Amino acid sequence: MTEVGIDGVEIWTGKLKLDLAETFAPAQGEDPGKYTKGLGLNASSLPDVYEDIVTMGANASKRLMERKGLSPEDIGRIDVATESSFDQSKPVSTYVAGCLEQTFDGDFHHANKGERKFACVSGTQSLDDAYNWIRAGRNQGRKALVIATDTALYARDDPGEATQGAGAVAMLIDEDPDLVTLGDEQGFGSADETDFLKPNQQFPSVDGKRSMQVYLARMREAMIDFARNGGDTHPDNFELAPFHTPFPGMVRKAAVLGYRHCIRDTEIEDELAEEIGRQPRREAFDDHEAFLDAITEYTDKLAETTAYEEWYAKTVEPTFAISREVGNWYTGSVHLARAAGLAEALEDGRDLTGRNMLVSSYGSGAQAEIHAETIQEGWAEEIEQLNIFEQIEKRNEITFEEYESIHDVHNHDETTEMEPLTSPDGEFVFDGWGRMGERKYTYVE
Ligand code: HMG
Repeated sequence: MTEVGIDGVEIWTGKLKLDLAETFAPAQGEDPGKYTKGLGLNASSLPDVYEDIVTMGANASKRLMERKGLSPEDIGRIDVATESSFDQSKPVSTYVAGCLEQTFDGDFHHANKGERKFACVSGTQSLDDAYNWIRAGRNQGRKALVIATDTALYARDDPGEATQGAGAVAMLIDEDPDLVTLGDEQGFGSADETDFLKPNQQFPSVDGKRSMQVYLARMREAMIDFARNGGDTHPDNFELAPFHTPFPGMVRKAAVLGYRHCIRDTEIEDELAEEIGRQPRREAFDDHEAFLDAITEYTDKLAETTAYEEWYAKTVEPTFAISREVGNWYTGSVHLARAAGLAEALEDGRDLTGRNMLVSSYGSGAQAEIHAETIQEGWAEEIEQLNIFEQIEKRNEITFEEYESIHDVHNHDETTEMEPLTSPDGEFVFDGWGRMGERKYTYVE
């Protein structure tokens, strides 16, 4: 059976930078440590006046197609995952295709286009759809373009405002991929939850604390399901563990629970037993509260062990290298984590060819999905060409007053006019409204 996976990736960040410690925290009357240490975030990426989910998605896709030497006829499928869509009928993928057709010869008239929605997990679901389409042999030699693009804005003064972000990740899905192959085994944890939702409104209604509990509960279910479906969860058998990263502090909480689960009944648990005892087993307790106390105590001790700290530093920490500078990109977030982990590994000279990653995706509402990926021979070359760290450096840092205005510019209920803070250079830009209320785009040389 031909292997299928991600052949290439490109990332495009919103061009404005809101420094959370220096600019946002003082204006909110908060201690900067809440952002940098507690949440684990330094800054948010925000879109300039002429940027949106279409421009960011199209700009990432253009770079990807050019680098891979592709023309529109090579693409049989374009799926956009987003929770920032501005149209209930016409999918964002049609707008992206329209943009790309301005700069490439040929067209995407025979590509199947769609839009996927399930909060942040829809990026991974789109990846799945593309994988299944190719594995089913319906692609006729063509490749799929998957784009995860969001402007993750919250209402002003919502606690979620600290975790905002904006950007796009474009991925090319193909046979015999250069970057990673996707494993067949998957684990799901899914339930009808009302923790974060946008009932026909732009900014989410969020129960922040509950959303964190739901994230952990669904991840746990997904992990159990993944193992039951034959997935390998031994910590020594995966080099990186990219998670959906709304903010690194969330993943810090999830990682120790995941590690605890994965070492159960392994030699790692045995080796740690002398230092911290064995994991309390539910069946050994009559009283549920007593079990919870015991398992919490064990987890706290586990987090302090050298074995855990070393595993975390190697497997999880590197995956934050992008998100800690850009915030939550919703559908793109776990895909940033994968790219960041690989970029850091490359810089550290790690040889990852043939090694696995355990990828944990999540979307509010709520669903977690876990699968493994195997890193391919071309990974280093693919990751080397990413320019996301340069883009991050080049962002225009904004004042708090500029932030207030730019938030209004992107608020669908406001009609704020504002001059752009940056100049477009070789990219697609939003260019006003059409006769039927459609958004219009042009390419600026
Ligand atoms: P909050 O309640 O304002 O923050 O908002 P807090 O007071 O809980 O502080 C945050 C952390 O900073 C805490 O750490 C504090 O102790 C610490 P913890 O105790 O949890 O480990 N802290 C400090 N540390 C060092 N020095 C200091 C300091 N002060 C405080 N001086 C909240 C936090 C996450 C609730 C908020 O940002 C929010 O509502 N975010 C949006 C929801 C969210 O991101 N949820 C995450 C899980 S759901 C998810 O991932 C899905 C999502 O991506 C959407 C989708 O799927 O589409 C959101």
